Amino acid sequence: MTPEHANTHERAIRDQFSRQAAGFAVAPELHADGIVALVVEAAKPQAVDRAIDLACGPGTVACALAQRVQHVVGLDRGLARRQNVNNVEWRAGDVYQTPYAGGSFNIVTCRFAFHHFEKPALAFAEMVRLVATGGRVVLCDGLASEEPDKAEAFNAMERRRDPSTVEFRTLPYLRGLFEAAGLGDPQVQRFDVSYLASDLVARSFPVDNDRAGLLAMIEATVAGDKMDVGAHWTPEGVRFAFRSAVLSAVKPD
Ligand SMILES: C[S@@+](CC[C@H](N)C(=O)[O-])C[C@H]1O[C@@H](n2cnc3c(N)ncnc32)[C@H](O)[C@@H]1O
Repeated sequence: MTPEHANTHERAIRDQFSRQAAGFAVAPELHADGIVALVVEAAKPQAVDRAIDLACGPGTVACALAQRVQHVVGLDRGLARRQNVNNVEWRAGDVYQTPYAGGSFNIVTCRFAFHHFEKPALAFAEMVRLVATGGRVVLCDGLASEEPDKAEAFNAMERRRDPSTVEFRTLPYLRGLFEAAGLGDPQVQRFDVSYLASDLVARSFPVDNDRAGLLAMIEATVAGDKMDVGAHWTPEGVRFAFRSAVLSAVKPD
């Protein structure tokens, strides 16, 4: 990646998230209690724990964790306004280089952000560095199909819908991050986040602001489910799901 490309990517991320923050925070699909709880429960929170949620966005996961642990840091490079909660500290920062000593936290989470990372292994190494032995590492993200053509079709759609997307990876790829970091085979809980395509498109800021083109692109994938997202027609329009997973492991001694 050239420095110019890196700068363009950073601008795309900041641009998307300053515009998306409000809509994202109220998107019931992704911020519903039951969906957020999948990450919280995988972290096995204890009252004495210190937790950090990396790339916290609007802070839904950080605030949910805060109800169960002593202290939470929510870190993001974005500038979204976030809720004031007593035991949550909001920090501006980059996931690749956080200002904390190794082993500072018992819980390190990162939800729906790895597809924005150019260097997922580096981001994951930082998660593992931050967690103390016996602590929990929890990674949650959308998944690309294990069929390469369908993965590429889904990623092409997502990059058009949200130009700050780098790539959704497959479940085996995300599992591999845990294994390569010495955490062994993670526990995996799969789930779907279902969207009415027209609702999602209306809340998005696609390339060239071309919402009609984006919706047509999604509709064109229904026959044969070309993105492997369970796309189907309903009376309200096309519905499809972000295939997703929560992967978690304990950092060994
Ligand atoms: C789709 S949002 C997810 C927000 C939140 N984790 C959630 O689940 O609601 C992705 C977030 O990743 C953040 N992000 C992307 N790259 C980052 C980086 N290198 N360092 C810190 N935050 C980053 C963006 O600012 C954005 O808030």
